[in-house]
Amino acid sequence: MSYGDYQNELYLAALGGTLPQFPFTHAELESHALAALTPELRTYVAGGAGDEVTQRGNATAFERLALVPRMLRASAERDLSVELFGRRLDSPLLMAPVGVVGLCTPDQHGDLHAAEASVATGVPLIGSTLMSDPLEDVAAATGDVPAWFQLYTPKDRDLAASLVSRAEAAGYEAIVVTLDTWVPGWRPRDLASGNFPQLRGKALANYTSDPVFQTMTGPDPDVGTVVLTWISTFGHPLSWDDLPWLRSLTDLPLVLKGICHPDDARRALDAGADGIYCSNHGGRQANGGGAAIDWLPAVAEAVHSSGTGAPVVFDSGVRTGADVVKALALGATAVAVGRPYAYGLALGGVPGAVHVLRSLQAETDLTMAVDGYPTIADLTPDAVVRVP
Ligand SMILES: Cc1cc2nc3c(=O)[nH]c(=O)nc-3n(C[C@H](O)[C@H](O)[C@H](O)COP(=O)(O)O)c2cc1C
Repeated sequence: MSYGDYQNELYLAALGGTLPQFPFTHAELESHALAALTPELRTYVAGGAGDEVTQRGNATAFERLALVPRMLRASAERDLSVELFGRRLDSPLLMAPVGVVGLCTPDQHGDLHAAEASVATGVPLIGSTLMSDPLEDVAAATGDVPAWFQLYTPKDRDLAASLVSRAEAAGYEAIVVTLDTWVPGWRPRDLASGNFPQLRGKALANYTSDPVFQTMTGPDPDVGTVVLTWISTFGHPLSWDDLPWLRSLTDLPLVLKGICHPDDARRALDAGADGIYCSNHGGRQANGGGAAIDWLPAVAEAVHSSGTGAPVVFDSGVRTGADVVKALALGATAVAVGRPYAYGLALGGVPGAVHVLRSLQAETDLTMAVDGYPTIADLTPDAVVRVP
């Protein structure tokens, strides 16, 4: 079966009288999902840093990139598979770590539902440190589909080691260390509503279930103690000197998230990173920077010419299957989405997230089909040109 067959399914269902339940454009998805969320979550999920020029630019930058159609290269079968750390995935799509996804469904088990959507679509989940259910339960819900664990490195090194070893024991297949969030960015929407879910004790299940964190809070802590303890340890200001220690915590592949400069990519690989994740956190951390897709080509070139064979993961601003194709052509090995699947969960639980992911896979497949790029290897940088 091709991913593009999802459209046949939808047309056939419509012939039988069943119209699609969920929208197809990101704009509609966002507006419907935000209406379904509580006001506090709305600002937290949709908002970004500063006046959000970087956040908007992440998405609009894709409009300045044009895919070049090539004809008479049609292929009835497309191959969208990629290899990541020894695992072959049928599609290059990943679910980016989204800290409050647990709160995006009314039952507050959105992390488990993201895992269920992963099983239904084969799209791996990168589980955030900030979960509403413990990382072990989320890993169990991902079944046979690989899952990765994202680490926000705490100041307390024993806590960091504990989280990583729990992730390893739970079956996560890579550790993604986020580099750009040791301190939260300046987020006017959240500031205006006085809202930061973690400060209300939300999405801290990986801390409260952790034996090291428990020794820090003492037994049976109240929410205030949990939150104050969390604040005291949340973000370690990481430097290059910390990398050998981070590397020593695990034998799993280590992926560094937030790399936007080729020199940083090269240095990270030299220091033992196994994968580079080019991202500006969806524009939520530092405003005023360029669109993440504009950093990707140089980062990818640095990684691919290193001879390490390390994969490059990309996210920030991916809204359509065509965006996925463009990022692949510009050097991404795999492409992640954040808000799109969070909105799918908010709007329709597991079926909503599955629809979003299947739609992205279908549009990726059909774009490659129509434009004459039947495999990912065909997607080289000259498949994209910059347009004014
Ligand atoms: C509500 C929200 C929470 C996020 N939480 C995390 C997180 O816990 N860890 C992390 O590394 N990135 C986090 N991110 C960033 C995403 O992993 C990803 O980089 C970003 O969402 C990609 O941009 P997009 O939303 O435009 O797809 C979060 C993003 C959003 C929207």
